[in-house]
Amino acid sequence: MSKRETDSKPWSGRFSEPVDAFVEAFTASVPFDHRLYRHDIAGSIAHARMLARTGILDTEECQQIVGGLQDIREDIDAGRLVWSVALEDVHMNIEARLIERIGDTGKKLHTGRSRNDQVATDIRLWLREAIDGIDAELLRLREALIDLAEREAATIMPGFTHLQSAQPVTFGHHMLAWQEMLSRDQARLRECRQRVNIMPLGAAALAGTSFPIDREYTAELLGFDAPARNSLDAVSDRDFAIEFSAFASILLMHLSRFSEELVLWTSAQFGFIDLPDRFCTGSSIMPQKKNPDVPELVRGKSGRVYGHLMSLLTLMKGQPLAYNKDNQEDKEPLFDTVDTVAACLRAYADMMPAVAVNHERCRAAAGAGYATATDLADYLVRKGVAFRDAHEIVGKAVQHALGKELDLADLELTDLQQFSDAIDSDVFDVLTLEGSVAARNHPGGTAPDQVRAAAKAARQQLDQRHGAAR
Ligand code: ARG
Repeated sequence: MSKRETDSKPWSGRFSEPVDAFVEAFTASVPFDHRLYRHDIAGSIAHARMLARTGILDTEECQQIVGGLQDIREDIDAGRLVWSVALEDVHMNIEARLIERIGDTGKKLHTGRSRNDQVATDIRLWLREAIDGIDAELLRLREALIDLAEREAATIMPGFTHLQSAQPVTFGHHMLAWQEMLSRDQARLRECRQRVNIMPLGAAALAGTSFPIDREYTAELLGFDAPARNSLDAVSDRDFAIEFSAFASILLMHLSRFSEELVLWTSAQFGFIDLPDRFCTGSSIMPQKKNPDVPELVRGKSGRVYGHLMSLLTLMKGQPLAYNKDNQEDKEPLFDTVDTVAACLRAYADMMPAVAVNHERCRAAAGAGYATATDLADYLVRKGVAFRDAHEIVGKAVQHALGKELDLADLELTDLQQFSDAIDSDVFDVLTLEGSVAARNHPGGTAPDQVRAAAKAARQQLDQRHGAAR
């Protein structure tokens, strides 16, 4: 950041002393909002074109402005523009460079506009692009989970409640549970995009402008669905950023849940899966360690994303209409939320296809902990025993098996029959893990056939949405 002769404030007219050096740095946003430059320039070009179309600028002036802005964009792309803190923000930096470059015509660009509607427009354009990138990463991760679900549709693992062995499930079913969470996240993101894609330009400082502008035209040039309906709301509304952060918080909450399970599953005690070395790191002291850093870090990153949601909510709480300088504080939390979400999704979408499932370990764990006890109770019900009685009978059988340190399936038939004479030799069909999962054969159930059907349906839904026009 630098200070140059030409860096005098565009608003210095009514001031009798220069702004304090500390205050200048304290109030500047260019150290972080320069990231909006491409969107700021796109917004300015559309604004200039609209001004020419409505006759507020002449064609020659418009061409000069557009050409100048395009050159400035190239300079910034190439790292040739030195940002000036004295010029406060990205908007005034670019405007000053434009005037420097094309002369007095550059001073006409800001006609019928204010930095208040300009910045609100820039953030929306920037966030819309970010949302589209995140949307694509979400799709990639969902595809990876569906692939994994198909691959492991018949792989048996323990299902847990209270993190205690509950009933056997298939690994594919578990992956599709994650996929469901992400499909809701994606729906939330796409809804949010609709409210992001509304154009503040034309609201000017707060009350609109006295120039005969054509907001529909500017909106069309910038790909907005519509101009904002109320100028006061347009310059002060940051709901869309809060909404995006709420989406991001729920997504990170989901990713933190996946992460917790992956961390457990990679431990020596579980050993259900293996993550490739390229997603892990070692310990500087314990030579045997291979740490699941990626899931751990993603789990941890939920904290900052929740924090940004709280920052934005608190930033907006109690703000009177219309624009207030407080709003400048919207950018850093929003930028970091986008960066964090994009990075976490990318890591997950790259990592999930590389997960290796240890079938033997999963199966052995599913066999422990009397996971088929419910199947025995259901069996008794089918033989005419009332469910509550069946529950009691199986409880006693489990207690007996515990005493012998055997699984239910390993007890002798005669041993089992002492608990109920409804038990026959066909009982062993339901006590197997395969029998248990195959029996849950209805839509939404864990049976391998159901998992395959659900994976297929999920894939179709993805493909349809892929092509769907926004
Ligand atoms: N840098 C400011 C922001 O980020 C731009 C808008 C400034 N508007 C104003 N009236 N001071 O919010």
